[in-house]
Amino acid sequence: MRGTLAGRITLVCLAVAGVAVIVAGLVAARLIRTTADNVLQSSLSAQADVVATQLDETGIGNRLGVGKVADVVRGQGISVVVRRAGGGQALGEAVAVQAAGKLGLGADHSGRVTVGGSQYLVETRVVGTRGAAFALVLPARNAEATQRALVRNIALALGIGLLVAALAGFVSGRLLGRPLRRAAAAAGALRAGRRDVRVPVQGPREVAEVAGSLNSLADALAVSEARQRDFLLSVSHELRTPLTAVTGFAEAIADGVASGDDAVRAGQTIQREAVRLERLVTDLLELARLGADEFRLDVTSLDLGALVRDCAEVWQLRCAREDVELRVSAPSSPVLVVADARRLRQVVDGLAENALRVTPSGAPMVFSLSVSASEASLSVRDGGPGLAPEDYPVAFERGVLNARYRDRRPVGSGIGLALVHGLVTRMGGTLTAGPAPEGGAAFTMTFPLAPAGPRGR
Ligand SMILES: Nc1ncnc2c1ncn2[C@@H]1O[C@H](COP(=O)(O)OP(=O)(O)OP(=O)(O)O)[C@@H](O)[C@H]1O
Ligand SMILES: [Mg+2]
Repeated sequence: MRGTLAGRITLVCLAVAGVAVIVAGLVAARLIRTTADNVLQSSLSAQADVVATQLDETGIGNRLGVGKVADVVRGQGISVVVRRAGGGQALGEAVAVQAAGKLGLGADHSGRVTVGGSQYLVETRVVGTRGAAFALVLPARNAEATQRALVRNIALALGIGLLVAALAGFVSGRLLGRPLRRAAAAAGALRAGRRDVRVPVQGPREVAEVAGSLNSLADALAVSEARQRDFLLSVSHELRTPLTAVTGFAEAIADGVASGDDAVRAGQTIQREAVRLERLVTDLLELARLGADEFRLDVTSLDLGALVRDCAEVWQLRCAREDVELRVSAPSSPVLVVADARRLRQVVDGLAENALRVTPSGAPMVFSLSVSASEASLSVRDGGPGLAPEDYPVAFERGVLNARYRDRRPVGSGIGLALVHGLVTRMGGTLTAGPAPEGGAAFTMTFPLAPAGPRGR
């Protein structure tokens, strides 16, 4: 209980209430005691004044007169001391006489004296001019009863105060603790792997801040995990085509389909594709080391014509196996653009994978490079079923076309076009989709021509 927020707040409330009641009680006790004393003294004084009007010098000398007065006040615990006119002994109860003597009967006095360890309130009055006087003496212990009642009341107040404080502390502790407990539960769910948990941002500002921070943490976790997932998807996507090529060419050699010069060229292609794979793996290692989740771009001035011919070399075999005719058209002079050659290969691979998957045997697949005054355009076209007009605007949104065609055609994982589009855009080019004259789809990337470098002259 002491460790919980509710427990602590309850304890603090109890302590505050206890201290407040005790301090208030002490102050009140002092105040009430002096007030009670003053009230007693002034009532005694008033009584003495009344008695003074009732008694004259003869009355004081007269036992009967004094006896009447003494009877009236004795009921209230007051003793009467008298001194007759002409001086002489003061008469009355011994203690009262002593108390009166301490204050002195020579004049009108009002005061408090101590006799034998007890306190007495004393009022003296002089009657007439010949030394007659009397005193009213009241033991101060009458005030103690009042004090005892006071202490009882303070104890009662203390009890009620503590009870209310305990209740208030417990309730406010529970109220404050509830959102915190909710936040803790949400954090537990996050740790267990759930990413959809959100805590309502409400309550006192500090508590709301905790909830807000927790929600942002959940958002950040979800985003970073999504990026990691995307990255893994793109990596596996990019490893796939070179691996297929290596397998295909190796099979061709092993089966004896490629022999002589063909086998040599197949071996060279395998080697080149293996180097690409190795570079991809190096990239991965580098990314892991840097903690990044996007491939670095190495943009240089490169010859798109040579790149198209390289691609054709690799895709020739796969097309041949599917009985698809691969047509390549590219100007023989260099076509220089600024881009990353390896990423461009990934782009062509992604588009060619899509095209070959849907192109029926006997139909063509085309790599076509054309150059205008300021731009170079590389198209991957096919003679397959193509896309519907409403497909083009959403072609590069991840998974959309894949979902549309999943039931009708062979499809992959649905991220290829989005990846390809992202790469082309990052390299400063544009990628568009449209119908192909061969009957299928045409995907065209366009790059501005690079200013002719040493290779171009
Ligand atoms: N040339 C094309 N002709 C006809 N349909 C195409 C063509 N290219 C893409 N598509 C359609 O668009 C969908 C999305 O292509 P995308 O490359 O994004 O994903 P995918 O090929 O299904 O999977 P992944 O590339 O991740 O293996 C494909 O599934 C296919 O239905
Ligand atoms: Mg694809």
